[in-house]
Amino acid sequence: MRIAQIGVGGFGKNHTRILSQLGVLSAICDADLAKSKEFGTKYSVNHYSDIDSLLGSEQFDAAFVCTPTSTHFEIAKTLLQKKKNVFVEKPMTYLSREGEELLELAKKNKVILTSGYIERFNPAVSLVKEYVKTKKYGELIMLEFHRENRMPLHIKDVGIIYDTSVHDIDTAMWLFDDVPEVVFVRSGRIRHEHEDFATIMLGFRENKVAIISSNWITPIKVRKFSAVCSDAIISSDFITQEVKIETNTGAEIPRKDVEEPLLLEIKNFIAASEGKENIRVRPEDALNTTKIAEAALLSSHRGTPIYLDLK
Ligand SMILES: NC(=O)c1ccc[n+]([C@@H]2O[C@H](COP(=O)([O-])OP(=O)(O)OC[C@H]3O[C@@H](n4cnc5c(N)ncnc54)[C@H](O)[C@@H]3O)[C@@H](O)[C@H]2O)c1
Repeated sequence: MRIAQIGVGGFGKNHTRILSQLGVLSAICDADLAKSKEFGTKYSVNHYSDIDSLLGSEQFDAAFVCTPTSTHFEIAKTLLQKKKNVFVEKPMTYLSREGEELLELAKKNKVILTSGYIERFNPAVSLVKEYVKTKKYGELIMLEFHRENRMPLHIKDVGIIYDTSVHDIDTAMWLFDDVPEVVFVRSGRIRHEHEDFATIMLGFRENKVAIISSNWITPIKVRKFSAVCSDAIISSDFITQEVKIETNTGAEIPRKDVEEPLLLEIKNFIAASEGKENIRVRPEDALNTTKIAEAALLSSHRGTPIYLDLK
């Protein structure tokens, strides 16, 4: 497996490190030539500053796209047309019609397409998913997410919903194993050019609900969630990966270890590209998240709930 890394900025350098560790990194491409050269030299692979030169000179099977959201569609489309397996960072695309086009192209060319909804690989989320699936603590009724941070100044093309809340939108669908019927949002802007705080309510079947609260105002990093089940409340922290269960009879903490979700995510993409595993984040899942993010902005703009028809 030979994998090209496109975009070696704040987050892409993490992919690059892991791909190199796994012995599959074959080339680097970043529009910023100095960065491209720095990482090409660091990992002893060829480097490029545009996709066409990369495609013209390198043989590779798959690529990671870790560039700003507004560039995802064109880059991923070019790669899929060349029959590469493609991992695009979240959100897969800005517009849902772009996502639909990518899905068709991946299907037609029989290649893997996925997006970086990394929390599906967070061991804390996996444990809660297992509890929900086996109904160990009864029925999952309500999810609540808090994701707060200082504003990432380099993100210019999208607001907090597309950049940050999408993680929790995806995790809510993953834990409920369902898609929401309705979305209602209040969001606003204090310092960023796009919205920098948002509260999103996703309504699922049987009055089940996910409340997603995100902001770029809090000066500290908060990434927590809780799951209200009929027999317990399960709380967790995406960063420490600790899970706490409180029932009528007391509290227990079944996990405290930390594993790197990005490593698990990249391994799943490689195994899926080699036909050895199913891809955990299907392109249909990533498309649904984009559709919900689109509806979320519309809901906030109109001040009304938006009813969805997702598959
Ligand atoms: N999964 C996660 O937890 C997570 C975390 C952070 C960022 N991200 C995602 O990763 C992506 C990148 O975010 P970032 O924080 O690394 O941004 P960044 O601005 O730090 O890095 C983006 C890099 O892409 C390069 N670039 C821009 N346009 C390009 C093009 N057309 N061709 C090649 N290179 C190009 C830039 O020069 C830069 O080095 C975004 O989609 C973001 O949402 C995901």
